[in-house]
Amino acid sequence: MEALKSSFATSRCSLIFFGLLLLFASAMSSSQAKTQLHDFVIQTTPVKRLCKTHNIITVNGQYPGPTLEVNNGDTLIVKVTNKARYNATIHWHGIRQMRTGWADGPEFVTQCPIRPGGSYTYRFTIQGQEGTLWWHAHSSWLRATVYGALIIRPKQGDSYPFTKPKREIPILLGEWWNANPLDVVREATRTGKAPNLSDAYTINGQPGNLYSCSSRDTVRVPIDSGETNLLRVVNAALNQALFFTVANHKLTVVGADASYTKPFTTTVIMLGPGQTTDVLISGDQPPARYYAAARAYASASGVPFDNTTTRAILEYKSASCAVKNCALTKPVMPVLPAFNDTATVTRFSTSFRSLRNVEVPTVIDENLFFTIGVGLKQCPKHLNKTRRCQGPNGTRFTASMNNVSFVLPSKMSILQAFEKRVPGVFTTDFPANPPVKFDYTGNVSRSLWQPVLGTKGYRLKFGSRVQVVLQDTSIVSPENHPIHLHGYDFYIIAEGFGNFNSKTDTAKFNLVDPPLRNTVAVPVNGWAVIRFVADNPGAWLLHCHLDVHIGWGLAMLFLVDNGVGKFQSIEPPPADLPLC
Ligand code: C2O
Repeated sequence: MEALKSSFATSRCSLIFFGLLLLFASAMSSSQAKTQLHDFVIQTTPVKRLCKTHNIITVNGQYPGPTLEVNNGDTLIVKVTNKARYNATIHWHGIRQMRTGWADGPEFVTQCPIRPGGSYTYRFTIQGQEGTLWWHAHSSWLRATVYGALIIRPKQGDSYPFTKPKREIPILLGEWWNANPLDVVREATRTGKAPNLSDAYTINGQPGNLYSCSSRDTVRVPIDSGETNLLRVVNAALNQALFFTVANHKLTVVGADASYTKPFTTTVIMLGPGQTTDVLISGDQPPARYYAAARAYASASGVPFDNTTTRAILEYKSASCAVKNCALTKPVMPVLPAFNDTATVTRFSTSFRSLRNVEVPTVIDENLFFTIGVGLKQCPKHLNKTRRCQGPNGTRFTASMNNVSFVLPSKMSILQAFEKRVPGVFTTDFPANPPVKFDYTGNVSRSLWQPVLGTKGYRLKFGSRVQVVLQDTSIVSPENHPIHLHGYDFYIIAEGFGNFNSKTDTAKFNLVDPPLRNTVAVPVNGWAVIRFVADNPGAWLLHCHLDVHIGWGLAMLFLVDNGVGKFQSIEPPPADLPLC
């Protein structure tokens, strides 16, 4: 007030200052919250891989699809037009979608598919997430080729909690079939058999030079002596957990699933499908060329898998083929863990901590226990030995959580039915505990191998504090399942082997700095415990991110009620929401 009463000169001066301040503030706020518009056209694109041209489905003709780069706080508006001959949707894997569940994307869960010729605009804001996520189709096996990176940088003016890397490079690990992936899954659904294995793994869409006709296109990852770069690694493979390593170089993990972690150093990382890991790599080795390689972590013993290896070349600038005759020296090849090296996986996955101490819910309103695993369905006698029952001993493969094998609806999306209270689309009787208690990781009686079918959800009050024990079973074969929750991040407070014991295993709970993720790789023949607060109303899928298991029914739904008032309620559905 004193300033206003003072001389003309001074007040003019403060006016200018105030004006500048306003200008500055508006510049700041516009840079802090941008809106990005994108067009995604889903289309058929010819692509040459493994000696042949294939017509694959892509976004905008790109494989992998376009990388989206945003800052925390930004809004994305993506118009998706389907020019392919298949149903399609896009899921923004790991985005919390606070109150915008309509933009989440899984078909028949939050929307009906975008039919060929149709379009839908996804609108959502990134709130409090930083790091690497990705987007992918969420309809049948379309995501085999329809996926891309979604990079979230800190708000403008904010910095990373680690030294700013010189370069940031997305490393998308994928899985390639020479056949049309939709035909592969269709055939498996018809016969009840396991689907055909993939023909290659890929790094940024390229198999690399261990595969035929692929040498020339091997991906090269640049590095310079003395610099530190950030590799944003995503496991976009359909059905395979993967090890990833770089010859002679250490990897420092600094984030996963768009949450920062306490840095730790390792030579190899493992990602279940759906998971992302951000690692720093330093150019501290003799300038040369080194392979970066990925291959299977195959935890299910006796189950066939694609045992091939994809690789790219980490290339020091002074050793690049443009500078040196690189035909003379072969890049250094790393040693990869054995396919079944669960000890390495455990050492790695138990190294994760949140960067800082976090607020883990300690009082629990919903104490849930879900078994997860595969199974076999007996075929009715008259179908036995027909072409529909070509699984083991004339059965069909199936999978379940708490003995319920999840079936998608087809007439209306679950979220629409939930919002409009339309009966007959789903039920809310998903069991909080297994219907029968048994030795989950022991020798399980054959009478427990066959689940029941259902579109079952578990209802959660807004704000409820939830704990879920995810317990693998040894039915058919135990396996490391990457369990992904839509619409939420959760704390992984513990993991272990055998059957979870609520008396003794609580001693292992980390309630101080557990990692925050959207996908947990549940140990083979073991368990993991997750916690979250149900603060995002909507219909959210919890499922195994091995696509083969989703099709068999390894999924359930959380139905989260609205809270009080607008800001605790889901937004109204967009006008262009595709209907069935
Ligand atoms: Cu990345 Cu329901 O999936």
